[in-house]
Amino acid sequence: MGDVTTSAPLLEVEDLRVTFRTGDGQVNAVNGVSFALDEGETLAIVGESGSGKSQTAYAAMGLLARNGSATGTVRYRGRNLLELPQRELNGIRSQEIAMIFQDPMTSLNPYMRVSDQMAEVLMLHKGMGKRQAVEEAARMLDAVRIPDARARIGMYPHEFSGGMRQRIMIAMALLCRPKLLIADEPTTALDVTVQAQIMRLLGEIRKDLGTAVILITHDLGVVAGFCERTLVMYGGQIMEEGRTEAIFATPTHPYTLGLLSAVPRIDREDEALLTIAGEPPDMSRLPPGCPFFPRCAFARPENETIRPPLVTLPDGRRRACHVPVEEILARKEAAQ
Ligand SMILES: Nc1ncnc2c1ncn2[C@@H]1O[C@H](COP(=O)(O)OP(=O)(O)OP(=O)(O)O)[C@@H](O)[C@H]1O
Ligand SMILES: [Mg+2]
Repeated sequence: MGDVTTSAPLLEVEDLRVTFRTGDGQVNAVNGVSFALDEGETLAIVGESGSGKSQTAYAAMGLLARNGSATGTVRYRGRNLLELPQRELNGIRSQEIAMIFQDPMTSLNPYMRVSDQMAEVLMLHKGMGKRQAVEEAARMLDAVRIPDARARIGMYPHEFSGGMRQRIMIAMALLCRPKLLIADEPTTALDVTVQAQIMRLLGEIRKDLGTAVILITHDLGVVAGFCERTLVMYGGQIMEEGRTEAIFATPTHPYTLGLLSAVPRIDREDEALLTIAGEPPDMSRLPPGCPFFPRCAFARPENETIRPPLVTLPDGRRRACHVPVEEILARKEAAQ
């Protein structure tokens, strides 16, 4: 045997649960989610709107809305972020874990020149002087391919196009060379070509820096080229998780199957876009059994009351479904 070292994962989420208090009762947004992420690894979290993707990430970062609370553990390099004193959490959030959001203006200050806001981060967290910080910021803008970065760094955010602002936000997020980047729908607001460019760029930079990424997205097309692993969520739970190629080539969960057939294919433009029939569940009234039961073409009556456990298959993927894998693979073949 060679020199095998088993190091602890970078991030280890265990039995994470998020609830919100509302006038209509309790919303169960995340219901026992567990996963781990190694240094430098890329993980996609996918699922329809409302499936609990964002709240999983926000809970991990201590960014839940005031009416929300989280239980479980979120270990970052061994420390449980859910129990960390605010000061220490702030330190980790500003220097080791970065987040980018769909709307760049949530991260950029419209009243400050880009140079000043980027330099401020480096002066505060890396102890740089102003001149060195602006120089480093310009280098990062170069890296995200802002043309003529040195001349334009003194401009205000609104003086850049949407795609350029998104690049600036990525540059901001990566300034402190974080260990982990959480990107929540980072390109959804952009047109498809710009989206593809930015994802390619993000892929290159994160490889150079060795940054691990959690990418939250509706867009399965983005996932395929970017993430080593994919986690499929529904009703605040993991339906299926595993290597991206495996999930795409042989989905073993009826929900994954539905999500994948809902992806528009450029080579079949004339075909109507398939969607999964029915509505996502009401998170304040989740059924006791499988949350996908009412919409599942494979479901048996008993699935309504018994929640399927998350089971690891021989190929290492995990799935939560009562239906035998063979039955689902056979159906997929018949459909092709
Ligand atoms: N502050 C809040 N109060 C009550 N319910 C909330 C609150 N924030 C989120 N939720 C609910 O939590 C559930 C999960 O939301 P989440 O934001 O994680 O969805 P998502 O998977 O990210 O969806 P999308 O793709 O639309 O961003 C949803 O049902 C949402 O309505
Ligand atoms: Mg979201």
